[in-house]
Amino acid sequence: MLEEIVEDIKSLIDPVIWITDGRFTSNELKLFDDARQLYELQLAKLEFLRFGDDLKEFVRRTAYFEEILGKKSWHYFISGVKGKGQIGHTNQYMTHWFYPYKGKFHGQMIKALINFAEAKEGNLILDPYLGSGTTLIESSLLGINGYGVEINPALAVVSQIKLDSLKINYEEISTEVDFSKSL
Ligand SMILES: C[S@@+](CC[C@H](N)C(=O)[O-])C[C@H]1O[C@@H](n2cnc3c(N)ncnc32)[C@H](O)[C@@H]1O
Repeated sequence: MLEEIVEDIKSLIDPVIWITDGRFTSNELKLFDDARQLYELQLAKLEFLRFGDDLKEFVRRTAYFEEILGKKSWHYFISGVKGKGQIGHTNQYMTHWFYPYKGKFHGQMIKALINFAEAKEGNLILDPYLGSGTTLIESSLLGINGYGVEINPALAVVSQIKLDSLKINYEEISTEVDFSKSL
């Protein structure tokens, strides 16, 4: 009896049931632990609307789901790539953390909006207020070309560095260059 009540309550508060209109539960699709703000759940719902019928593509594109039917999403691995000393937060991955610009967007949010806009390889994303480049970093990670305009030249340089750094093959550098000899 008690178990049934618990299950009833869980189904009322399970955000994945709301996001997927009852098609899945949190046991099947797992949101990232820190995706709990209302706007994030809404964006996760928009992502599901876009990819709910193509779960393979959903695994590749989602920003808010950590796991889909037992398979880790690409974002799970991407968001695990952090700088030295960077911990926890799913928005400080890859080169997003390079420059602490207060006006920058959240990478996950931008990724979900790019998903909702149905942008794909071969399209071109324009950010006319580039800032420190979050939008172009996200489009680049999805393999979509981007173009940015920024009135502040320092921020244009910062963005370029963050974008160029995505292309560095760190493994190659660490095996080709023996840093110990330069000490
Ligand atoms: C909120 S930030 C943009 C954040 C960014 N889109 C991102 O992906 O993180 C707004 C940026 O617009 C720039 N900006 C303001 N007026 C501009 C203009 N007329 N032309 C180009 N950039 C402009 C500002 O310098 C600022 O860096």
